Amino acid sequence: MTSPLYHETHRPQFHFTPARNWTNDPNGLVFYAGEWHLFFQHNPHGIKWGNMTWGHAVSPDLVHWTQLPNALEPDALGTIFSGSAVVDWANTAGMQTGAEPPLIAIYTSAGSEVKPPVPFTQSIASSNDRGRTWTKFAGNPVLGHIVGANRDPKVIWHAPSSQWVMALYLDGNDYALFGSPNLRDWTRLCDVAMPGISECPDFFPLPVDGDATRTLWVFWGAAGCYLLGAFDGRTFAPETDVLRAEWGANGYAAQTWSDVPASDGRRIQIAWMAGGKYPAMPFNQQFTFPVELTLRSTSQGVRLYRQPVRERELLRQRTQRWEQVTLQPGANLIPQTDCELFEVCAEIDPCEAQAVGLLVRGHDLCYDLSTGELSALDKRAAVALEGGRLRLQALIDRTSLEVFAQDGLVSMSSCFLPEAADWNLEFYTRGGAARLVTLEVHELASAWPAL
Ligand code: FRU
Repeated sequence: MTSPLYHETHRPQFHFTPARNWTNDPNGLVFYAGEWHLFFQHNPHGIKWGNMTWGHAVSPDLVHWTQLPNALEPDALGTIFSGSAVVDWANTAGMQTGAEPPLIAIYTSAGSEVKPPVPFTQSIASSNDRGRTWTKFAGNPVLGHIVGANRDPKVIWHAPSSQWVMALYLDGNDYALFGSPNLRDWTRLCDVAMPGISECPDFFPLPVDGDATRTLWVFWGAAGCYLLGAFDGRTFAPETDVLRAEWGANGYAAQTWSDVPASDGRRIQIAWMAGGKYPAMPFNQQFTFPVELTLRSTSQGVRLYRQPVRERELLRQRTQRWEQVTLQPGANLIPQTDCELFEVCAEIDPCEAQAVGLLVRGHDLCYDLSTGELSALDKRAAVALEGGRLRLQALIDRTSLEVFAQDGLVSMSSCFLPEAADWNLEFYTRGGAARLVTLEVHELASAWPAL
Protein backbone atom coordinates (compact mmCIF):
# COMPACT_ATOMS: atom_id res chain seq x y z
CA MET A 1 0.00 0.00 0.00
CA THR A 2 1.34 3.48 -0.84
CA SER A 3 1.23 6.01 2.00
CA PRO A 4 -0.53 9.29 1.37
CA LEU A 5 1.81 12.07 0.24
CA TYR A 6 3.52 13.86 3.15
CA HIS A 7 2.64 11.08 5.58
CA GLU A 8 5.11 8.41 4.49
CA THR A 9 7.21 6.60 7.12
CA HIS A 10 10.35 8.72 6.82
CA ARG A 11 8.73 12.00 5.68
CA PRO A 12 9.84 14.83 8.00
CA GLN A 13 6.70 16.33 9.52
CA PHE A 14 7.86 19.87 10.25
CA HIS A 15 10.91 20.21 7.99
CA PHE A 16 10.48 21.16 4.36
CA THR A 17 10.81 18.45 1.71
CA PRO A 18 9.61 18.59 -1.89
CA ALA A 19 6.58 16.42 -2.57
CA ARG A 20 8.67 14.29 -4.90
CA ASN A 21 12.26 13.91 -6.06
CA TRP A 22 15.56 15.44 -5.17
CA THR A 23 16.41 18.75 -3.51
CA ASN A 24 19.61 20.29 -2.22
CA ASP A 25 20.34 23.96 -1.48
CA PRO A 26 17.70 26.52 -0.48
CA ASN A 27 17.66 29.27 -3.14
CA GLY A 28 16.05 32.66 -3.74
CA LEU A 29 14.85 33.21 -0.17
CA VAL A 30 12.77 36.37 -0.19
CA PHE A 31 9.81 37.69 1.78
CA TYR A 32 7.16 39.61 -0.14
CA ALA A 33 3.51 40.49 0.48
CA GLY A 34 3.04 38.19 3.43
CA GLU A 35 4.76 35.20 1.85
CA TRP A 36 8.05 33.55 2.72
CA HIS A 37 9.37 32.25 -0.60
CA LEU A 38 11.56 29.18 -0.56
CA PHE A 39 13.06 28.23 -3.91
CA PHE A 40 15.23 25.16 -3.90
CA GLN A 41 17.67 23.17 -6.02
CA HIS A 42 15.48 20.48 -7.48
CA ASN A 43 15.61 17.58 -9.88
CA PRO A 44 12.01 17.46 -11.15
CA HIS A 45 12.71 14.20 -12.98
CA GLY A 46 14.59 12.07 -10.49
CA ILE A 47 15.28 10.97 -6.94
CA LYS A 48 18.99 11.84 -7.29
CA TRP A 49 20.85 15.07 -8.08
CA GLY A 50 20.53 16.26 -11.71
CA ASN A 51 18.56 18.46 -14.15
CA MET A 52 18.97 21.34 -11.71
CA THR A 53 15.87 23.51 -11.63
CA TRP A 54 14.49 25.96 -9.06
CA GLY A 55 11.56 24.38 -7.27
CA HIS A 56 9.29 26.74 -5.31
CA ALA A 57 7.29 26.74 -2.10
CA VAL A 58 5.62 29.49 -0.07
CA SER A 59 4.65 29.82 3.55
CA PRO A 60 2.71 32.38 5.59
CA ASP A 61 4.66 31.50 8.75
CA LEU A 62 7.95 29.66 7.98
CA VAL A 63 6.35 26.45 9.26
CA HIS A 64 3.56 25.42 6.87
CA TRP A 65 4.76 25.15 3.24
CA THR A 66 2.83 24.85 -0.01
CA GLN A 67 4.78 23.69 -3.03
CA LEU A 68 4.08 25.62 -6.25
CA PRO A 69 5.08 24.87 -9.88
CA ASN A 70 8.80 25.00 -10.62
CA ALA A 71 10.14 28.52 -11.11
CA LEU A 72 13.27 28.32 -13.28
CA GLU A 73 14.10 25.54 -15.71
CA PRO A 74 17.31 24.75 -17.62
CA ASP A 75 18.00 26.65 -20.85
CA ALA A 76 20.76 27.08 -23.44
CA LEU A 77 23.02 28.70 -20.82
CA GLY A 78 22.79 25.63 -18.63
CA THR A 79 20.96 24.10 -15.73
CA ILE A 80 19.92 26.43 -12.91
CA PHE A 81 22.30 26.29 -9.96
CA SER A 82 22.00 28.08 -6.63
CA GLY A 83 21.35 31.78 -6.17
CA SER A 84 19.22 34.35 -4.41
CA ALA A 85 16.25 36.68 -4.91
CA VAL A 86 15.39 40.25 -3.95
CA VAL A 87 12.46 42.63 -4.21
CA ASP A 88 13.45 45.40 -6.64
CA TRP A 89 11.49 48.10 -4.78
CA ALA A 90 12.84 50.99 -6.87
CA ASN A 91 12.65 49.09 -10.19
CA THR A 92 16.41 49.56 -10.66
CA ALA A 93 16.51 46.76 -13.23
CA GLY A 94 13.59 48.26 -15.20
CA MET A 95 11.68 44.97 -15.18
CA GLN A 96 8.50 46.10 -13.40
CA THR A 97 5.39 45.65 -15.56
CA GLY A 98 2.53 46.43 -13.16
CA ALA A 99 1.82 48.31 -9.97
CA GLU A 100 3.90 46.08 -7.72
CA PRO A 101 7.70 45.82 -7.56
CA PRO A 102 9.12 42.73 -9.26
CA LEU A 103 11.01 39.92 -7.59
CA ILE A 104 14.39 39.39 -9.23
CA ALA A 105 16.16 36.05 -9.04
CA ILE A 106 19.94 35.99 -9.46
CA TYR A 107 21.23 32.48 -10.22
CA THR A 108 24.04 30.50 -11.78
CA SER A 109 23.66 29.29 -15.35
CA ALA A 110 25.64 26.07 -14.98
CA GLY A 111 26.75 25.91 -18.60
CA SER A 112 28.95 22.84 -18.39
CA GLU A 113 25.79 20.78 -18.23
CA VAL A 114 24.62 21.79 -21.73
CA LYS A 115 25.96 20.56 -25.08
CA PRO A 116 28.26 21.95 -26.29
CA PRO A 117 29.42 23.03 -22.81
CA VAL A 118 29.73 26.73 -22.02
CA PRO A 119 31.28 28.20 -18.84
CA PHE A 120 29.34 28.88 -15.62
CA THR A 121 27.91 32.42 -15.62
CA GLN A 122 25.43 34.42 -13.54
CA SER A 123 21.95 35.28 -14.83
CA ILE A 124 18.77 37.01 -13.66
CA ALA A 125 15.02 36.53 -14.07
CA SER A 126 12.06 38.65 -12.98
CA SER A 127 8.58 37.93 -11.68
CA ASN A 128 5.73 40.43 -11.64
CA ASP A 129 3.19 38.09 -10.09
CA ARG A 130 4.62 37.37 -6.66
CA GLY A 131 6.94 34.65 -7.86
CA ARG A 132 4.33 32.56 -9.69
CA THR A 133 5.84 32.99 -13.17
CA TRP A 134 9.33 34.08 -14.19
CA THR A 135 10.85 35.74 -17.25
CA LYS A 136 14.54 35.26 -17.85
CA PHE A 137 16.39 38.45 -18.85
CA ALA A 138 17.09 38.49 -22.61
CA GLY A 139 20.59 39.87 -21.94
CA ASN A 140 21.72 36.95 -19.78
CA PRO A 141 24.28 36.27 -18.50
CA VAL A 142 24.65 39.46 -16.47
CA LEU A 143 28.05 38.40 -15.11
CA GLY A 144 30.35 36.43 -17.37
CA HIS A 145 32.66 33.58 -16.49
CA ILE A 146 35.48 34.53 -14.11
CA VAL A 147 37.09 31.29 -13.02
CA GLY A 148 36.37 27.58 -12.63
CA ALA A 149 32.80 26.74 -11.71
CA ASN A 150 32.10 30.21 -10.22
CA ARG A 151 28.60 30.14 -8.75
CA ASP A 152 25.96 30.77 -6.07
CA PRO A 153 25.32 34.57 -6.27
CA LYS A 154 23.78 36.04 -3.08
CA VAL A 155 22.59 39.62 -3.52
CA ILE A 156 21.78 42.27 -0.93
CA TRP A 157 20.82 45.97 -1.26
CA HIS A 158 23.48 48.14 0.41
CA ALA A 159 21.70 51.42 1.16
CA PRO A 160 24.76 53.45 2.32
CA SER A 161 26.41 53.05 -1.11
CA SER A 162 23.09 52.84 -3.05
CA GLN A 163 24.05 49.64 -4.83
CA TRP A 164 23.31 45.97 -5.05
CA VAL A 165 26.13 43.85 -3.67
CA MET A 166 26.64 40.26 -4.84
CA ALA A 167 28.69 37.70 -2.92
CA LEU A 168 29.89 35.03 -5.36
CA TYR A 169 31.81 31.79 -4.91
CA LEU A 170 34.79 31.67 -7.30
CA ASP A 171 37.00 28.60 -6.88
CA GLY A 172 39.03 26.83 -4.20
CA ASN A 173 38.43 28.84 -1.03
CA ASP A 174 37.97 32.11 -2.91
CA TYR A 175 34.93 34.34 -3.04
CA ALA A 176 34.40 37.90 -4.35
CA LEU A 177 32.00 40.81 -3.94
CA PHE A 178 30.53 42.66 -6.92
CA GLY A 179 28.50 45.89 -7.05
CA SER A 180 25.69 46.99 -9.38
CA PRO A 181 23.25 49.89 -9.66
CA ASN A 182 20.67 47.81 -11.56
CA LEU A 183 21.28 44.04 -11.11
CA ARG A 184 22.36 43.90 -14.77
CA ASP A 185 25.83 45.53 -14.80
CA TRP A 186 28.32 44.27 -12.22
CA THR A 187 31.81 45.40 -11.23
CA ARG A 188 34.19 43.53 -8.96
CA LEU A 189 34.55 45.23 -5.57
CA CYS A 190 36.93 42.98 -3.61
CA ASP A 191 38.02 39.40 -3.01
CA VAL A 192 37.34 37.37 0.13
CA ALA A 193 39.21 34.19 1.12
CA MET A 194 37.69 31.68 3.52
CA PRO A 195 40.34 29.06 4.30
CA GLY A 196 38.85 25.57 4.17
CA ILE A 197 35.45 26.72 2.91
CA SER A 198 33.81 26.81 -0.51
CA GLU A 199 30.39 27.31 -2.19
CA CYS A 200 27.17 29.18 -1.28
CA PRO A 201 28.18 32.51 0.26
CA ASP A 202 25.87 34.75 2.26
CA PHE A 203 26.72 38.31 3.27
CA PHE A 204 24.74 40.55 5.62
CA PRO A 205 25.08 42.99 8.53
CA LEU A 206 23.87 42.26 12.06
CA PRO A 207 23.81 44.41 15.19
CA VAL A 208 25.97 43.21 18.08
CA ASP A 209 23.92 42.50 21.21
CA GLY A 210 20.95 44.20 19.52
CA ASP A 211 22.77 47.55 19.40
CA ALA A 212 22.08 49.04 15.95
CA THR A 213 25.02 51.43 16.35
CA ARG A 214 27.42 48.47 16.55
CA THR A 215 27.10 46.47 13.37
CA LEU A 216 29.34 43.72 12.04
CA TRP A 217 29.11 42.05 8.63
CA VAL A 218 28.83 38.29 8.45
CA PHE A 219 30.41 36.50 5.49
CA TRP A 220 29.04 32.95 5.50
CA GLY A 221 30.23 29.86 3.60
CA ALA A 222 28.40 26.63 2.81
CA ALA A 223 29.95 24.42 5.51
CA GLY A 224 28.36 26.49 8.30
CA CYS A 225 31.38 28.75 8.92
CA TYR A 226 31.66 32.53 8.90
CA LEU A 227 33.90 35.55 9.10
CA LEU A 228 32.95 38.75 10.95
CA GLY A 229 34.20 42.09 9.69
CA ALA A 230 33.59 45.58 8.34
CA PHE A 231 32.21 46.56 4.93
CA ASP A 232 32.42 50.10 3.52
CA GLY A 233 30.61 49.52 0.23
CA ARG A 234 33.82 48.41 -1.52
CA THR A 235 35.91 46.22 0.74
CA PHE A 236 35.05 43.54 3.25
CA ALA A 237 37.75 43.60 5.95
CA PRO A 238 37.56 40.44 8.10
CA GLU A 239 38.20 40.93 11.80
CA THR A 240 38.12 37.24 12.77
CA ASP A 241 39.49 33.91 11.61
CA VAL A 242 36.97 31.48 10.15
CA LEU A 243 34.50 30.61 12.94
CA ARG A 244 32.08 27.69 12.98
CA ALA A 245 28.38 27.96 13.82
CA GLU A 246 27.14 24.59 12.50
CA TRP A 247 28.71 21.50 14.09
CA GLY A 248 26.23 18.81 13.03
CA ALA A 249 26.62 16.07 10.47
CA ASN A 250 24.28 17.51 7.85
CA GLY A 251 23.84 21.31 7.94
CA TYR A 252 25.04 22.76 4.59
CA ALA A 253 24.48 25.58 2.08
CA ALA A 254 22.45 27.80 4.42
CA GLN A 255 21.00 31.05 3.10
CA THR A 256 19.11 33.93 4.74
CA TRP A 257 15.87 35.59 3.65
CA SER A 258 15.98 38.91 1.84
CA ASP A 259 13.51 41.75 2.41
CA VAL A 260 12.23 40.73 5.84
CA PRO A 261 10.20 43.82 6.84
CA ALA A 262 11.88 46.23 9.26
CA SER A 263 8.94 45.74 11.61
CA ASP A 264 10.06 42.11 11.92
CA GLY A 265 13.77 42.84 11.72
CA ARG A 266 15.03 39.27 11.98
CA ARG A 267 17.79 37.67 9.92
CA ILE A 268 16.37 34.21 9.23
CA GLN A 269 18.30 31.31 7.76
CA ILE A 270 17.47 27.86 6.46
CA ALA A 271 19.90 25.13 5.33
CA TRP A 272 19.94 21.89 3.42
CA MET A 273 20.52 18.85 5.64
CA ALA A 274 22.94 17.27 3.21
CA GLY A 275 23.19 13.52 3.11
CA GLY A 276 20.14 12.25 4.99
CA LYS A 277 18.88 8.81 3.94
CA TYR A 278 15.20 8.23 3.07
CA PRO A 279 14.80 4.66 1.83
CA ALA A 280 11.77 3.98 -0.37
CA MET A 281 10.53 7.58 -0.07
CA PRO A 282 9.19 9.59 -3.05
CA PHE A 283 11.38 12.58 -2.01
CA ASN A 284 15.08 12.86 -1.26
CA GLN A 285 16.64 15.32 1.26
CA GLN A 286 15.17 17.75 3.78
CA PHE A 287 15.87 21.28 5.02
CA THR A 288 16.59 22.47 8.54
CA PHE A 289 13.97 24.27 10.56
CA PRO A 290 14.43 28.04 9.99
CA VAL A 291 16.67 29.74 12.55
CA GLU A 292 17.08 33.35 13.64
CA LEU A 293 20.65 34.64 13.59
CA THR A 294 22.00 37.11 16.15
CA LEU A 295 25.45 38.37 17.11
CA ARG A 296 26.29 38.36 20.80
CA SER A 297 29.36 39.21 22.87
CA THR A 298 31.02 36.26 24.59
CA SER A 299 34.23 35.93 26.60
CA GLN A 300 35.84 34.73 23.33
CA GLY A 301 34.62 37.72 21.31
CA VAL A 302 31.49 38.30 19.22
CA ARG A 303 29.84 35.10 17.99
CA LEU A 304 26.90 34.16 15.75
CA TYR A 305 23.97 32.47 17.50
CA ARG A 306 21.38 30.31 15.73
CA GLN A 307 17.99 29.67 17.33
CA PRO A 308 14.87 28.10 15.81
CA VAL A 309 12.37 30.83 14.88
CA ARG A 310 9.59 31.53 17.37
CA GLU A 311 6.99 30.33 14.84
CA ARG A 312 7.91 26.81 16.04
CA GLU A 313 5.43 27.50 18.85
CA LEU A 314 2.61 27.20 16.29
CA LEU A 315 3.25 23.46 16.30
CA ARG A 316 3.11 22.94 20.05
CA GLN A 317 0.48 20.58 21.37
CA ARG A 318 0.76 19.12 24.87
CA THR A 319 3.60 20.39 27.10
CA GLN A 320 5.10 18.52 30.03
CA ARG A 321 7.25 20.56 32.40
CA TRP A 322 9.61 19.64 35.22
CA GLU A 323 11.56 21.83 37.63
CA GLN A 324 14.42 21.04 39.99
CA VAL A 325 14.36 17.31 39.34
CA THR A 326 17.38 15.34 40.54
CA LEU A 327 18.31 12.61 38.10
CA GLN A 328 20.11 9.54 39.44
CA PRO A 329 22.31 7.24 37.35
CA GLY A 330 20.29 4.28 36.13
CA ALA A 331 16.96 6.02 36.76
CA ASN A 332 16.12 7.72 33.48
CA LEU A 333 13.40 10.31 33.22
CA ILE A 334 11.02 9.09 30.51
CA PRO A 335 8.16 11.43 29.56
CA GLN A 336 4.86 9.65 29.03
CA THR A 337 3.99 10.25 25.41
CA ASP A 338 3.12 8.49 22.22
CA CYS A 339 4.08 11.48 20.09
CA GLU A 340 7.05 11.27 17.70
CA LEU A 341 7.68 15.00 17.13
CA PHE A 342 9.16 17.12 19.91
CA GLU A 343 10.74 20.35 20.95
CA VAL A 344 12.79 19.83 24.10
CA CYS A 345 14.14 22.71 26.21
CA ALA A 346 16.38 21.82 29.14
CA GLU A 347 18.57 23.66 31.60
CA ILE A 348 20.88 21.20 33.30
CA ASP A 349 23.17 21.51 36.30
CA PRO A 350 25.48 18.50 35.85
CA CYS A 351 26.35 18.49 39.61
CA GLU A 352 28.25 15.22 40.15
CA ALA A 353 27.62 13.70 36.72
CA GLN A 354 30.32 12.55 34.32
CA ALA A 355 27.87 12.69 31.44
CA VAL A 356 24.31 13.91 30.97
CA GLY A 357 22.12 13.55 27.97
CA LEU A 358 19.12 12.54 26.06
CA LEU A 359 18.33 9.37 24.15
CA VAL A 360 16.35 10.16 21.00
CA ARG A 361 14.96 7.03 19.37
CA GLY A 362 18.03 5.12 20.48
CA HIS A 363 20.46 7.87 19.39
CA ASP A 364 22.56 9.52 22.07
CA LEU A 365 22.75 13.30 22.52
CA CYS A 366 25.43 13.43 25.20
CA TYR A 367 27.35 16.11 27.10
CA ASP A 368 30.60 14.66 28.44
CA LEU A 369 31.86 16.59 31.47
CA SER A 370 35.39 15.19 31.17
CA THR A 371 35.89 16.58 27.66
CA GLY A 372 33.40 19.46 27.73
CA GLU A 373 32.00 18.17 24.44
CA LEU A 374 28.48 17.74 23.20
CA SER A 375 28.02 14.84 20.80
CA ALA A 376 25.10 14.11 18.52
CA LEU A 377 24.98 11.40 15.88
CA ASP A 378 28.77 10.95 15.75
CA LYS A 379 29.66 14.64 15.65
CA ARG A 380 31.23 16.57 18.54
CA ALA A 381 31.39 20.22 19.54
CA ALA A 382 33.09 21.92 22.47
CA VAL A 383 30.49 23.58 24.70
CA ALA A 384 31.51 25.47 27.85
CA LEU A 385 29.13 25.40 30.79
CA GLU A 386 27.78 28.86 31.64
CA GLY A 387 27.32 29.53 35.35
CA GLY A 388 27.82 25.79 35.74
CA ARG A 389 24.87 25.04 33.51
CA LEU A 390 24.09 23.60 30.11
CA ARG A 391 21.09 24.88 28.18
CA LEU A 392 19.90 22.59 25.42
CA GLN A 393 17.13 22.97 22.90
CA ALA A 394 16.34 20.12 20.53
CA LEU A 395 13.95 19.77 17.60
CA ILE A 396 13.12 16.15 16.95
CA ASP A 397 11.41 15.09 13.72
CA ARG A 398 11.00 11.64 12.22
CA THR A 399 14.41 11.70 10.54
CA SER A 400 16.26 14.68 12.01
CA LEU A 401 17.62 16.01 15.25
CA GLU A 402 18.61 19.66 15.56
CA VAL A 403 20.37 20.74 18.72
CA PHE A 404 21.01 24.27 19.92
CA ALA A 405 23.32 24.55 22.93
CA GLN A 406 23.83 27.61 25.17
CA ASP A 407 21.06 29.55 23.39
CA GLY A 408 22.37 28.68 19.92
CA LEU A 409 26.09 29.45 20.25
CA VAL A 410 26.64 25.87 19.08
CA SER A 411 24.17 24.26 16.73
CA MET A 412 24.15 20.75 15.31
CA SER A 413 21.82 19.77 12.45
CA SER A 414 21.76 16.03 11.95
CA CYS A 415 19.75 13.39 10.14
CA PHE A 416 19.08 9.85 11.32
CA LEU A 417 17.04 6.85 10.34
CA PRO A 418 14.96 5.63 13.26
CA GLU A 419 14.55 1.99 14.17
CA ALA A 420 10.88 1.15 14.09
CA ALA A 421 10.91 0.03 17.72
CA ASP A 422 12.74 3.05 19.17
CA TRP A 423 10.25 5.73 20.06
CA ASN A 424 11.27 6.85 23.49
CA LEU A 425 12.80 10.02 24.75
CA GLU A 426 14.89 9.43 27.86
CA PHE A 427 16.93 11.83 29.97
CA TYR A 428 19.89 10.25 31.71
CA THR A 429 22.93 10.94 33.85
CA ARG A 430 26.05 8.80 34.26
CA GLY A 431 28.68 8.73 37.01
CA GLY A 432 26.69 10.82 39.49
CA ALA A 433 23.48 12.72 40.09
CA ALA A 434 22.54 15.70 37.88
CA ARG A 435 19.81 18.28 38.31
CA LEU A 436 17.28 19.22 35.66
CA VAL A 437 16.78 22.85 36.62
CA THR A 438 13.97 23.07 34.07
CA LEU A 439 12.81 20.66 31.42
CA GLU A 440 10.06 21.24 28.90
CA VAL A 441 8.95 18.57 26.47
CA HIS A 442 6.58 19.96 23.87
CA GLU A 443 4.76 17.48 21.68
CA LEU A 444 4.49 18.93 18.18
CA ALA A 445 1.91 18.64 15.45
CA SER A 446 2.74 17.81 11.85
CA ALA A 447 3.00 20.88 9.62
CA TRP A 448 1.47 19.01 6.67
CA PRO A 449 -2.26 18.97 6.03
CA ALA A 450 -4.02 16.35 8.17
CA LEU A 451 -5.09 13.10 6.55
C1 FRU B 1 26.08 23.31 -3.06
C2 FRU B 1 26.07 23.30 -4.58
C3 FRU B 1 26.20 24.70 -5.14
C4 FRU B 1 25.59 24.57 -6.51
C5 FRU B 1 24.47 23.59 -6.25
C6 FRU B 1 24.20 22.67 -7.40
O1 FRU B 1 25.44 22.21 -2.51
O2 FRU B 1 27.12 22.47 -5.06
O3 FRU B 1 27.52 25.19 -5.13
O4 FRU B 1 25.11 25.79 -6.99
O5 FRU B 1 24.84 22.83 -5.12
O6 FRU B 1 23.07 21.88 -7.16
